[in-house]
Amino acid sequence: MRVTDLLSFFTVLSSSTGVFGYVTLYGLPGQEPLGTGTATASGSAASYTGAAAYNPTILNPPPPPNPPGPSQFPIQLMSTGTQGLSIQQSGNFLGFSIEFSVVNQVLGKNSSFLQVPFLNLMSELSKRAGHVQIRVGGNTQETATLVPSLPDGKSIEKDYNASSNPTATPPLLFTPEIIYMMGNISALLPIEWYIGVPLNDTANLRLEIAELSQAVLGPNLKGMQVGNEPDLYANHGHRPTTYGPADYDTEFGIVAAALDNDKTITRPNILVGPSLSSIAWTPEQVWDTGFMTKHPELAYVSVEHYPLDNCFAQFGVGTPHVPQDEFASYLTHQSGKDIVAPFLNSSNLAQQVGKPFLMFETNTASCGGFAGISDSFGAALWGIDYGLQMAYSNFSGALVHVGGQSVFYNPFTPPPTNQSTFHQWTIGPLFYSSLIIAEAIGSTNKSQVLDLNPNAGNLLTPAYAIYENGAPVRVAMTNFITDPSGANDYTAMISIGGGQTGTPGATPATIKVKHFTADSVSQKANLSWAGQTFGDIFQSDGRPVGTETIETVTCDQTNNVCPVKVKAPGFALAFLTDTALQNSDSDGATATTFSTTARTRLRNTATVAPDVLATSNGHSGSTRGWGSTSNSNKILASGALVRVVVPGTLALLSMVCGAAMIGRMFVRV
Ligand SMILES: *[C@@H]1O[C@H](CO)[C@@H](O)[C@H](O)[C@H]1NC(C)=O
Ligand SMILES: *[C@@H]1O[C@H](CO)[C@@H](O)[C@H](O)[C@H]1NC(C)=O
Ligand SMILES: *[C@@H]1O[C@H](CO)[C@@H](O)[C@H](O)[C@H]1NC(C)=O
Ligand SMILES: *[C@@H]1O[C@H](CO)[C@@H](O)[C@H](O)[C@H]1NC(C)=O
Ligand SMILES: *[C@@H]1O[C@H](CO)[C@@H](O)[C@H](O)[C@H]1NC(C)=O
Ligand SMILES: *[C@@H]1O[C@H](CO)[C@@H](O)[C@H](O)[C@H]1NC(C)=O
Repeated sequence: MRVTDLLSFFTVLSSSTGVFGYVTLYGLPGQEPLGTGTATASGSAASYTGAAAYNPTILNPPPPPNPPGPSQFPIQLMSTGTQGLSIQQSGNFLGFSIEFSVVNQVLGKNSSFLQVPFLNLMSELSKRAGHVQIRVGGNTQETATLVPSLPDGKSIEKDYNASSNPTATPPLLFTPEIIYMMGNISALLPIEWYIGVPLNDTANLRLEIAELSQAVLGPNLKGMQVGNEPDLYANHGHRPTTYGPADYDTEFGIVAAALDNDKTITRPNILVGPSLSSIAWTPEQVWDTGFMTKHPELAYVSVEHYPLDNCFAQFGVGTPHVPQDEFASYLTHQSGKDIVAPFLNSSNLAQQVGKPFLMFETNTASCGGFAGISDSFGAALWGIDYGLQMAYSNFSGALVHVGGQSVFYNPFTPPPTNQSTFHQWTIGPLFYSSLIIAEAIGSTNKSQVLDLNPNAGNLLTPAYAIYENGAPVRVAMTNFITDPSGANDYTAMISIGGGQTGTPGATPATIKVKHFTADSVSQKANLSWAGQTFGDIFQSDGRPVGTETIETVTCDQTNNVCPVKVKAPGFALAFLTDTALQNSDSDGATATTFSTTARTRLRNTATVAPDVLATSNGHSGSTRGWGSTSNSNKILASGALVRVVVPGTLALLSMVCGAAMIGRMFVRV
């Protein structure tokens, strides 16, 4: 209903002006360049005028239930024979979707100028998950054009001279450096990529990004997306109003055939589609064209989704949402269940045809998320529960969207370009979600997830168990309630039965538990995962700070129970075996870290001069005698090239890029 209202609004506005581009909005949140806006770390929210990524708004946590729920409840697991488990999942489940237009800000400037904090963050993830999946794309991929070079050595730029389409969207121009940069990152860390083939002009396909990506990234190119939210093409004026699922299916086939016929493409059969917003079309409308089975090139079936939008606050369009009023809707198990419900039929169909089903782009809310929600501890708890709900529902992965400075929802944000000499990165709550899901699922590729619905299905205290080879290995428990009195803390009484009634229990003598804590769901900084944090805004070089603390819980083997306390608010991950703990931290204890002289005034000073790094040409860090530059981590040489690890003198970065797509705000309701 509200969708219809918005579409009508859009149509009226378009036709009344006669110029579709009248309502074009540039710099849509999530798609604009970094480096705009200033940031203030303190000051009241009301008077705050800086960039959204550092907005100080603190909401009130929803009131705790009164009377409180039970202070303890059982979680009974069986060591064999459990029904209803998900398909096998990998620890890279919650990856990232980086808008094409900000890729040169987040990943690095070019192939020899990588963002060190980004490498450190990905290293933390990959040591837990085994590997990391990242999509580079979004609406801005559709017009992106590969050119040999750009003036001033830039690697990405808006082409204002070519703003000819009805929305006056300047296309993006990018150089091979962007792809080489991705290749050089994968040479350092186990990162796999999805790229997007532009679909704005099917009569004149531009397959160069596919050709170069296949050549440069090799097996680290995981998939190639064809079409981003094609169900919104007509609404956005990119296709005639009659454009429907069959038209998309035809265009997909045209791209697939062109790739098949392209001699330089060695793997045409890694395509991703249809990546619907699912607002204008249902997924079933696309499946009914035969899409899922007719294209042998289709490797991944994809959708995109945001549960709410903040378009009214950003642009005055759509339904207004007051963040305080919406906060509670994220702090419940119901949120993830509601998001996946319309996709359960699709994930089941994809499974039947043997194709992974991906949530290709998601976050708390489109149009940049909500101040005080998207950047809160509550969003981290939401991300964990929603992520595990997707895993349980047989999605095979989900990608959290990363935008620029003017969004609230980034899992990580580089400082504004003119502040990079004195500020570091800001790590958001959804990065913690990704890290924690990596540990919950672990690195064996055999994990199966079960939604336990404990505590009589109480939506504020959800839990999942993760199984390997049929036996439970980890239990993930959330408490969405904020109650400093402690009255809403709970103790989960975990029991492992023998698998059949009457057989002896299999409860171990002790289990290990990691806790994720903050004082309130509203808290924005210094979230603590097992005693470690990425700090406040502008504080992180991508390495967690603090000593890791893992609780050992002694179980009562007489009564077959391991009590795990989960604070209100909080999250706990119980490792039922030592192997389960090891499999969540695959290379032992220490992530490969990357260092730089860029921030010599801060704690993490470098040991190698940047010119040495820049010219070291393939020698490993260890042979060059890198020392420790952090309090808690030793630098482990990756054995890979270090010449690409270059100082982050981002102050020199010019603001070259930025998307200018008309907004999804017209339809995201
Ligand atoms: C990468 O960026 C750095 C810093 O601006 C510049 O010095 C270097 O020439 C660039 N490298 C390439 C290959 O463009
Ligand atoms: C890094 O990128 C450069 C291109 O700028 C390329 O020559 C080099 O081979 C790349 N290194 C790796 C390991 O991919
Ligand atoms: C699932 O999707 C298929 C394909 O569109 C459709 O035929 C079927 O009715 C759907 N089933 C449910 C339960 O929605
Ligand atoms: C996920 O797939 C498994 C295996 O086919 C199936 O048993 C299970 O019911 C599915 N889960 C959901 C939530 O559909
Ligand atoms: C950074 O740039 C913005 C926008 O041009 C400007 O308002 C701000 O004062 C600059 N900040 C610093 C520290 O130079
Ligand atoms: C998990 O799967 C990935 C490929 O998706 C592979 O690279 C990795 O080696 C696998 N890990 C294990 C432990 O089998």
